[in-house]
Amino acid sequence: MQHRPRRLRTTPAMRRLVREVRPHAAELVLPVFIHEDLAESRPIASLPGVSQHPLSAVPELVAACVAARIGGIMLFAIPSVRDAEGSGACAADGILNRAIASAAEASGERLVVMADLCLDEFTDHGHCGVLAADGSVDNDATLEVYAQMGVAQARAGAHVLGLSGMMDGQTAAVRAELDAAGLTDVSLLAYAAKYASAFYGPFRDAVESQLEGDRRTYQMDPANGREGLREAELDALEGADIVMVKPALPYLDVVAEVAAESRVPVAAYHVSGEYAQIEAAAANGWIDRRAAHLEALTSMRRAGADIVVTYAALELAAWLEDL
Ligand code: PBG
Repeated sequence: MQHRPRRLRTTPAMRRLVREVRPHAAELVLPVFIHEDLAESRPIASLPGVSQHPLSAVPELVAACVAARIGGIMLFAIPSVRDAEGSGACAADGILNRAIASAAEASGERLVVMADLCLDEFTDHGHCGVLAADGSVDNDATLEVYAQMGVAQARAGAHVLGLSGMMDGQTAAVRAELDAAGLTDVSLLAYAAKYASAFYGPFRDAVESQLEGDRRTYQMDPANGREGLREAELDALEGADIVMVKPALPYLDVVAEVAAESRVPVAAYHVSGEYAQIEAAAANGWIDRRAAHLEALTSMRRAGADIVVTYAALELAAWLEDL
């Protein structure tokens, strides 16, 4: 026999030597949920190990990320009051903007502070944009709100704005408004290829979503890979500094293709339902929790993701130290 690939698998030392990807804490981003009405942190039933936190918890969350030496924190917020226009998103004293300010102050230059730029947490109808008279999501009217929201988040101190609403032209619209306001150093992470996915279920619990119906007129059809490449290309042309594919594991083909073509860093979001699947199976004793989370991360990196957004970021960082 000429070829014996197993030779390179003989010992832990040999396997360690020839490993192709070595995930690192620096590329991990932790999503967190800040709830305006809470005085104490409250666990999210469908997202084991993840909680909604009061605003006062932001400094300690940042400190935990810094201590774990992960790359960033991604802030989501649940406001006390929602309205049709999602006005809490643009108000300087809106809960998300206050959370950003607190995180930016606590982090200094030690952690990248990211904020979700989308209206779904702030609208009473739960859609990611404002509605036209006929009830459809009005793309171009939404762009104006996103632009104002972007300026508010940047002024609050966000380093990266995560454009997750899937409106056409959102990256260009937010970039133009930031630049006009002199906020040229704030980066844009475009949720370029974001699919209309069943795997967002626990997230909608986490943000207490009031959505009825679905997001299929703006989020992408799971059947379309080529369209994901198009979205990533358009976002890069519009000035995205980072492009993201979401969810991650069911769309690793898209991650790989975007990574092969992209000239900007590529992120993958291991979303709530993907995380919850591992947690649920592990809780039943059906899979090894640590090994499953590490394998998921390794697979996203192997497919070409430079940055991974995951609810397991802090634990992964600790586990990676022992590998
Ligand atoms: C929208 C947004 C969603 C997620 C991140 N940003 C939900 C959605 O599109 O319904 C989902 C993330 C996850 O499931 O972990 N602001």
